[in-house]
Amino acid sequence: MVTTAGPADGSAPRRAVRRRAPLVGATAACAALLLTALTACDGSTGPAPSSAPAAHETAPASLGALAARAGKDVGFATGPDLLAIAPLKAVVDAQATLVTPENVMKWQYTEPSQGHFDFSQGDALVAYAQAAGKKVYGHNLVWHSQLAPWVAGLDAAALRPAMENHVRQQAEHFKGKVVAWDVVNEAFDEDGTRRDDSPFQQKLGDGYIEDAFRTAHAADPNAKLCYNDYNIENIGAKSDAVYAMVKDFRSRGVPIDCVGFQSHLVLGGVPQDFVENLERFAALGVDVRITELDIRMATPASDGDLARQADDYRTVFADCLAVAACQGVTIWGVTDKYSWVPTTFPGQGAALVWDDDVQPKPAFEAIAGALRDAPPATPEG
Ligand code: G3I
Repeated sequence: MVTTAGPADGSAPRRAVRRRAPLVGATAACAALLLTALTACDGSTGPAPSSAPAAHETAPASLGALAARAGKDVGFATGPDLLAIAPLKAVVDAQATLVTPENVMKWQYTEPSQGHFDFSQGDALVAYAQAAGKKVYGHNLVWHSQLAPWVAGLDAAALRPAMENHVRQQAEHFKGKVVAWDVVNEAFDEDGTRRDDSPFQQKLGDGYIEDAFRTAHAADPNAKLCYNDYNIENIGAKSDAVYAMVKDFRSRGVPIDCVGFQSHLVLGGVPQDFVENLERFAALGVDVRITELDIRMATPASDGDLARQADDYRTVFADCLAVAACQGVTIWGVTDKYSWVPTTFPGQGAALVWDDDVQPKPAFEAIAGALRDAPPATPEG
């Protein structure tokens, strides 16, 4: 089914990602390390994107600085454990205007047992962002995956208040520290019907999404509230279903401000109608954002593949630049070495802009080129 296969490509069991050392214990230590490193710094707004650390002396530009000139964001998915790795932190320091927590603001991390909240790793990421002058895009409040085990055991009567309390507590805790939230993530199946394997859909029915948005808005009226999904980049059954929901919400005053297009793409798979699709959502009065971009290919990658990947990255950035309501592009990680792709799609990878040695790939210059070609943002936007 999945051409531009998004994450949950029908491989039911959420996957064990080939990746860094066991996280939890380590991550807390990394979080502490990161915090000490940060307190060591003078708390100033951190190096301007242009003062790239040595690792990228060769990188001629700061994608973040170029994007800011065009009124857009360049973001990266990351976390305290990844930012404790100097070459990775150097890239985020130099290239990003925004960071998204790849994992540490997900339910399994923030409410491991009912009513017991642990925001320590999210706080560490926020502390980094505040010290480095980056925005934080919250990911996520309500998602059927990476849920704490206790949630699945609740019946409908217990699940609704538990969901509302989770949304409220987390949105209140990070109030003023995140620019936006993925309030609900991946609630539709590929045919446009509601996702079957979601305890929220199964037990609470269609209304849980509206409930989550209203609860988040009450908790943090200033955060932009977004619906986020994959395989909605093209115009089709799934994006039509999301479009219908957003249109309905806007017509009834349900507080939705933005839609996130994850864009987990395959090489050569940038939809031809991406701009048209983004524009139709924008016409509903919502912002749009590319929230989890990566472009995977069969590995090992050939030079030809890397050149085609560069074209694809340039196209996606140009598509966002062509749409006034597109807030920016977030890339789902920095280096291929820690990408989620190879575990979920064996034999595929090389999906990101920096290689395993954290050296920029041809995609870097292609993105810089697209951003340089963009007209500077004007006050009217
Ligand atoms: O924290 C544990 C660690 O204690 C354990 O030793 C290790 C062993 O495998 O696993 C660690 O947890 C992993 C976690 O990432 C942190 O690294 C999980 O197994 C692994 O499943 C999880 O993968 C994440 C995946 O979401 C889970 O669904 C990926 O990093 C993350 O990139 C991916 O991101 C999602 C977005 O949130 C939503 N859209 C799709 C996207 C890609 O799947």
